[in-house]
Amino acid sequence: MSAGFEGKAFLVTGASSGIGRAVAVGLSRRGAKVALSGRDQEALAATLAQMEGAGHLSLRADLCDIEGVEGLVDKVLAWREPLDGVAYCAGIAGRARLRDTGPRMLLERMTVNCFAFVELLRQIVRRKKKTQPLSVVAISSLAALGHDRYLSAYAASKAALEAAAKSLAVELLPRHVRINLVRCAFVDTPMATGGDALGDFEAQLKESGYQPLGLIPPAVVADAVARLLGPEGAWSTGQVTTINAGVAG
Ligand SMILES: NC(=O)c1ccc[n+]([C@@H]2O[C@H](COP(=O)([O-])OP(=O)(O)OC[C@H]3O[C@@H](n4cnc5c(N)ncnc54)[C@H](OP(=O)(O)O)[C@@H]3O)[C@@H](O)[C@H]2O)c1
Repeated sequence: MSAGFEGKAFLVTGASSGIGRAVAVGLSRRGAKVALSGRDQEALAATLAQMEGAGHLSLRADLCDIEGVEGLVDKVLAWREPLDGVAYCAGIAGRARLRDTGPRMLLERMTVNCFAFVELLRQIVRRKKKTQPLSVVAISSLAALGHDRYLSAYAASKAALEAAAKSLAVELLPRHVRINLVRCAFVDTPMATGGDALGDFEAQLKESGYQPLGLIPPAVVADAVARLLGPEGAWSTGQVTTINAGVAG
């Protein structure tokens, strides 16, 4: 249990894996109630099995379907209203050369990584009492800085997420909404180590000097998210907290 979290209600998107799972587990250990969302129901159940306390909620939602975000918010608010915070951890990555960066790839990344975030906030804020505080954290990436090749779609979506979140932080401050970002280097999740990652990815990151401090444990990111969501974050909004694991630049 942690002061400031007990009995509070949070929505965590991307809770079926990686960072979102760690955030959901971390919030439950602090005494919060958590609505988990993702597409993979078995994986959401696996997250639920790692969480502490009762009264959490698991919701299947595909954030590519931006029109469906309103229905997701309906279900969350039917579970708990008011909602105290949101951790937006859903995301899709993927490297591709320009010739393979077609409209579908672009649209999927922009939708899941940015547009659905904005729509989710729109649906929550329009239903919220003006004085009811809401704290929001979204997960960004060093890719947003645009230093790496083959990441144009992903980098653009994360840069768009950061810009949207900062602008909304200014707009929504009078409505008692705080919005912050945690911008990470490679984190030890299936996004970084699964798929077409070859060999020992962490050893490669260290030996090449690209990310000399190694893969970031998801729990480290989850702690940063919880700090910003909870009472310690009460004086921060529109801020980017970077966990760079030694990546230069
Ligand atoms: N891992 C890294 O190195 C790294 C570094 C910097 C930033 N990030 C960011 O951190 C966030 C979490 O990533 P992760 O590393 O935890 O990756 P992950 O383990 O692959 O998890 C991604 C999550 O996003 C959800 N998701 C993907 N597409 C979705 C869709 N269409 N609708 C709803 N949910 C969807 C997935 O849920 P379902 O599959 O159940 O739908 C899953 O829970 C992402 O925004 C990512 O860009 C990751």
